[in-house]
Amino acid sequence: MQIIRSIKKIQSLTRQLASDGKRIGLVPTMGFLHDGHLSLIKRALKDCDIVITTIFVNPTQFSQGEDLSKYPRDEKGDIQKIKSAGGTIVFIPKVSDIYPDDFDSSVEVLSLTQTLEGESRPTHFDGVTTIVAKLFNMTRPDIVVFGLKDYQQAMVLKKMSTDLNYPIKFIIAPTVREKDGLAMSSRNKYFNEAERQEALCLSYALKTAKQMVKADIKDCKLIQKEMKAVIKATCKTAKIDYIAFTDFNSLAPTKVVVKNTICSLAVRLHNVRLIDNLKLM
Ligand code: PAJ
Repeated sequence: MQIIRSIKKIQSLTRQLASDGKRIGLVPTMGFLHDGHLSLIKRALKDCDIVITTIFVNPTQFSQGEDLSKYPRDEKGDIQKIKSAGGTIVFIPKVSDIYPDDFDSSVEVLSLTQTLEGESRPTHFDGVTTIVAKLFNMTRPDIVVFGLKDYQQAMVLKKMSTDLNYPIKFIIAPTVREKDGLAMSSRNKYFNEAERQEALCLSYALKTAKQMVKADIKDCKLIQKEMKAVIKATCKTAKIDYIAFTDFNSLAPTKVVVKNTICSLAVRLHNVRLIDNLKLM
């Protein structure tokens, strides 16, 4: 496995690999990897000869007051994990190379970024689309794999890629969960054991929603009310940012659960903001 830190090197290497006829897969991450991230690498390996995993804690997608400075890092551990998952290249660029002092550009998706995460974190997606466009340009992948866990992010990036004519196939891989249902996240590390139990409120609420739909209750207001009750019962101090019901592809809100409705939620607990989602039909 190769570890590359220079932009010039990754550019020349990927051009060489492409001209040798290799199929290149890309898995962008911010590191502190868990089995969810590794599942993306394994998925990419199914379709590609070469899988590039990037580790870059992207400062422009964090707003003031968010957790950029304390975002967990473990470069050594990450490299080991990528190696054992079968990854072929790790790209770890420096912040000063990605964003030199005179950096003055931004890639923006207009409509899809106005709801859900975009409403709570107004500048977040501009940072995400800008860094991922840069990574696309540096690595020129044939395939990219993102996680359904960050469902809106995947849809925003897919739109960016279509609109900007990147010839890249998008794969959105399922959310990997702990045995008890908690969606794996680098941010779970912030919790002690008792807090971690309370963090289950997100997956409990989503499970409740799914059960209600199975019992033919499809009114989103009713489902949302139950979900709020489940969250409060699991974690008294939880603050719900949003519980939203939208169409999977367009992100248009819906009042009734129909085919392709996905429920997404964001909850703050113990100073950590978690997101999760589940397709209800
Ligand atoms: P990060 O949070 O490190 O996530 C990297 C990728 O892993 C994303 O595609 C995310 O959806 C996926 N992922 C996270 N948790 C997962 C889980 N439990 N199961 C499956 N996949 C999971 O998302 C980012 O980094 C950044 O915004 C990035 C796209 C790298 C741009 O900076």
